[in-house]
Amino acid sequence: MALKFLELTLFSLLVALVSIANASDPDIVIDFLVPANSTGVNGTFFTYSGMRGIFDGEDPATFKVTKATFLEFPALLGQSVSLAVLQFPAGSTNPPHSHPRSAELLFVIDGSLEVGLIDTTNKLYNQTLQEGDMFVFPKGLVHYQYNANTQEAATAVSAFGSANAGAVSVPASVFTTGIDDSILAKAFKTDVTTIQKLKAGLAPKA
Ligand SMILES: *[C@@H]1O[C@H](CO)[C@@H](O)[C@H](O)[C@H]1NC(C)=O
Ligand SMILES: *[C@@H]1O[C@H](CO)[C@@H](O)[C@H](O)[C@H]1NC(C)=O
Ligand SMILES: *[C@@H]1O[C@H](CO)[C@@H](O)[C@H](O)[C@H]1NC(C)=O
Repeated sequence: MALKFLELTLFSLLVALVSIANASDPDIVIDFLVPANSTGVNGTFFTYSGMRGIFDGEDPATFKVTKATFLEFPALLGQSVSLAVLQFPAGSTNPPHSHPRSAELLFVIDGSLEVGLIDTTNKLYNQTLQEGDMFVFPKGLVHYQYNANTQEAATAVSAFGSANAGAVSVPASVFTTGIDDSILAKAFKTDVTTIQKLKAGLAPKA
């Protein structure tokens, strides 16, 4: 009897873990979701033109990400997809970060990028990508992109399996959220002065 109960408990735990691992945006039971204040839907609702002209004019001066999540493009809500355009001036980086709600499929459309991801055993998988290459960052894992070229810009488009993949920046989440200096000094096995230097470097420019 006791064994049966234990088996059942373990089985339920396994089912719960598997369903957490499979978690993605919730399925909707209608074709699409329309905002409550909508006065009627036509082709315009399924169109997002907010990125028109994104490649015209001057390249951005620093790394720039332009997102089309359900916040910018309401028709994506319930569809489990979104997109981002990543623009890397020469020598710029998208610092280590993770997306809690989706894998990322990155496609290099111009230039070259060094990319890397870190798995849950802290193993680094890195690669140098050329124009036309794709790379997948598994859901929730910390990753980065870097344009090592000091002369040429690089551009990538990333697709996500969530209407709002979310982003957790490693430097910002650790050093700009008010965690006590002495706690961080202990965690990073360093001194408070070093932590304060790191915090100062990441503080928003006035
Ligand atoms: C509905 O509400 C959203 C968010 O408040 C707003 O951006 C949008 O323009 C509204 N649409 C209509 C048709 O009123
Ligand atoms: C589509 O709907 C929008 C807002 O509901 C409206 O402004 C627009 O004129 C419509 N377009 C067509 C082609 O009917
Ligand atoms: C991966 O990273 C190592 C260490 O920085 C570097 O030496 C190597 O060139 C990188 N590999 C690729 C394919 O970019």
